[in-house]
Amino acid sequence: MPFLGSALSMTKGDAFWRDTAAQYGPVFRARVMGETRIFVTTTPVINYVYKNSSNFDFFFFRKFITATVFGMSMDNSFHPAVDSQLFPGPHRAMQPGAIAGSITRYADLLEVMLPARLEGLRPDEGVDLANFAFDLIYTASSKAFFSSSFPSAATKEPFVAFDQAFPLLNLGKLPSFAKKPAEKARETMLSLVEEWWDSVTSEERETLAPALMAMVEVAEAEAWPKRDVAALLLGDLWALEANAPNGAIWAIAEILRHPHILPTLRSEIDNAISRLDPPHLSTLLHLPQSQLVLTLPELNACFQETLRLYTDSFSLRVVQKDCVVCVSRPNAVSPESEWGVDAPNWDHTRFLDGRAKGVMNPFGGGVSMCEGRHFASAEILTFIASFITLADVTVTSDTLMPDAQRVGLGMLQPTGTFKVRIASRSRG
Ligand code: HEM
Repeated sequence: MPFLGSALSMTKGDAFWRDTAAQYGPVFRARVMGETRIFVTTTPVINYVYKNSSNFDFFFFRKFITATVFGMSMDNSFHPAVDSQLFPGPHRAMQPGAIAGSITRYADLLEVMLPARLEGLRPDEGVDLANFAFDLIYTASSKAFFSSSFPSAATKEPFVAFDQAFPLLNLGKLPSFAKKPAEKARETMLSLVEEWWDSVTSEERETLAPALMAMVEVAEAEAWPKRDVAALLLGDLWALEANAPNGAIWAIAEILRHPHILPTLRSEIDNAISRLDPPHLSTLLHLPQSQLVLTLPELNACFQETLRLYTDSFSLRVVQKDCVVCVSRPNAVSPESEWGVDAPNWDHTRFLDGRAKGVMNPFGGGVSMCEGRHFASAEILTFIASFITLADVTVTSDTLMPDAQRVGLGMLQPTGTFKVRIASRSRG
């Protein structure tokens, strides 16, 4: 089909990249959903693109997406303040030294919510692990960033519907009648966010994550309409929730699929806690991200391996009128890559015994590299650490697999279910 081009083949799994690169070389032009793109699938060329930000422009796409996907007016998406303030301000506010407050708020919520949720489960209650974890992480992280007044429960399902609509909204050339349901999903979210923002008190504003405040202050200084403020906030909510919860879900599912790792992880966590002052799980959860990674190397290896196997990231760049797409996945998962013949398997020990020599770009790279990666790392590690410390899990059925249709947006989404029974863990 001329409009779809290679889109369908691209959503059938990793073979597309391997077969096309074998036939045409690692850089090829393909037609996808009415657009012609140049796909770059090999590490040296991807690095070249990432390093040459003046020839390979990213910010056009970020502004365009702010309008077409998140619903900000096109004029304000391309306003001069966007380049000079709106992008750099939040970027600075998400650096490792600046996210301690957000990590603290997230950990405060997690350590109350997780035990309460575990206590509320009946002993033989079947639970879908993905729903269980998504609900907790979505609630704790959205309230940590957007203040305790954020309507996490009321926005959770509309957010999931909006997230499903993202790929359609992102298709510039799709006829408008085909976009209608996606636009409706966005409208629902924008209204909810705008209504909440209208009700936020000045005390609550003080507790917003600095990255959000940096954006809101630019919008208010330029007197942008409320709907544009809501679109900016929706953009950040999407960045916060579309990837990290699924990262935690994949990591826990893989740990449970390899149950021999659990005792090692639990003793790593228990030993780490015993060295802390005071020696409590809470102290561990509140550590800065850089310390957390060093304190829990085995758990971090599980996270890194999950990023390698379960992300599919596209970095978009404009070169004159062409669009170049850096495709991270083939380098991280194909058996012919530096990761070796077992690249398709989840094996966290490759990050512990020096075998992890390949390149992976789960967070993209260059000027568009994910600014939430430090927070995401703390968010996911603390969730897994508290979950496996506080919960005993029996897997009853597992049909969880990546949704290959969701290419290029970071963490692959799970389809299928991962049914478990969860009990509060009695700690000796
Ligand atoms: C495991 C979790 C995450 C993954 C895999 C991930 C992945 C990505 C990827 C692939 C990009 C695009 C990179 C590119 O175009 O080169 C991105 C951009 C971005 N991410 Fe993340 N992300 C995660 C978590 C987060 C979190 C928790 C936040 C916010 C708190 C966040 C905020 C952002 C923002 C604001 C951008 C846009 C940066 C820009 O366009 O300059 N991300 N992320």
